Amino acid sequence: MQLEGKVAVITGAGSGIGLATTRLFVEEGARVIAADISEKGLSQLAGTHGVETVVADVTNESDVDRLIGTAERLGHLDILFNNAGIVDRLVPVAECPDDVWQRVLAVNLYGPFYLSRRALPGMLQRGQGVIINTASVAGLAGARAGVAYTVSKHGLIGLTRNIAATYGSQGIRCVAIAPGAVNTGIGLGGEPSELGLAALNKTTATNPRVGEPIEIARVALFAASDAASFVNGSVLVVDGGWLAA
Ligand SMILES: NC(=O)c1ccc[n+]([C@@H]2O[C@H](COP(=O)([O-])OP(=O)(O)OC[C@H]3O[C@@H](n4cnc5c(N)ncnc54)[C@H](O)[C@@H]3O)[C@@H](O)[C@H]2O)c1
Repeated sequence: MQLEGKVAVITGAGSGIGLATTRLFVEEGARVIAADISEKGLSQLAGTHGVETVVADVTNESDVDRLIGTAERLGHLDILFNNAGIVDRLVPVAECPDDVWQRVLAVNLYGPFYLSRRALPGMLQRGQGVIINTASVAGLAGARAGVAYTVSKHGLIGLTRNIAATYGSQGIRCVAIAPGAVNTGIGLGGEPSELGLAALNKTTATNPRVGEPIEIARVALFAASDAASFVNGSVLVVDGGWLAA
């Protein structure tokens, strides 16, 4: 029981990595406020002991306020897992429409910013808290996604390091996880850009395999637990060795 007595907020909990992490965290003793924009996704958690589901859009500040407030009403928020994310059809900059750029940045980067800003005062008051951000290998390399996703995940790593560096001395840890390709519902987000796909395809020969959501959830558990007490501002690459090649 690595998370006994802890309260966690997990976004994107209705599918893939967030769903697997929610299930693992409650197995490890946490109470989880499981948030997703998709009510249908969250319905998979109905009746799961230790889980409270909240339909929320991470880009909507009043939803964010309601979500963190739900955790704080349980007494305290220990762990914020900023995991909700969307993709961008691999569109490079010359092909990127405003709506793709804005929505991908809103969900993948503004959302974690809003949630962290809302969660930190309570964490700082207690002198403890962990924020985990699901970045991506696309936060460390240029040809794993389109421009909006790549920029959003590079930005999320910047958010992670800034939080870690600023608040680390006050008991806060902030860690990014950078998964490689994982077997979830995320796909490519629609008909992919030919140019973007060609760039991605040049890298896929060195990708040993696709991971499973639980393989990311286990790293999130480590990052959230006291076993990671000296891990702060780090980017934990979990890609089966894709970036190593
Ligand atoms: N699957 C991969 O290959 C992969 C690789 C690297 C990083 N990631 C990242 O992992 C995270 C989880 O993705 P996944 O692969 O489990 O995908 P997924 O599509 O299975 O799950 C993402 C969840 O986020 C939810 N969501 C989308 N927009 C939201 C919003 N505005 N507010 C609240 N919830 C919202 C979706 O409804 C969905 O349930 C994402 O940040 C993604 O970028 C995934």
